[in-house]
Amino acid sequence: MSLNNLDMLYRQVIMDHYKNPKNKGTIDGDALTIDMNNPTCGDRIQLQLQVKDGVVEDAKFTGDGCSISMSSASMMTQAIKGKSISEALHMSESFSNMMLGEDEHFDDDIQALQGVSKFPARIKCATLAWKALEKAVKS
Ligand code: FES
Repeated sequence: MSLNNLDMLYRQVIMDHYKNPKNKGTIDGDALTIDMNNPTCGDRIQLQLQVKDGVVEDAKFTGDGCSISMSSASMMTQAIKGKSISEALHMSESFSNMMLGEDEHFDDDIQALQGVSKFPARIKCATLAWKALEKAVKS
């Protein structure tokens, strides 16, 4: 696949998550709840996690933001469900490294956000949901 085609495919994956986000909504009952905003634009996300025996049983989010931030939240919540807290934090660290331009690879849709690392102004958009995750599990 040429780079151009790969770029287009990634753009499509991002837009699909933006238009049809996974796990958008709130969790009924007890949940870790974290609000986070992107100071550069004021966009915000609220992340809720239901954790049992160290495993993320459910993850949902609400918020307003650009396609990068909302698709990243959709992908992140999808990826961490069923994972242990340490696995989720490890993913978060890998994602941060990917945003720094390091050679990280995700086997799922998250990989579509790799190109954001070339646009420093958008990195905070992509990491917003992941920062909320880190804050939630460390609180
Ligand atoms: Fe606000 Fe992307 S422009 S989160």
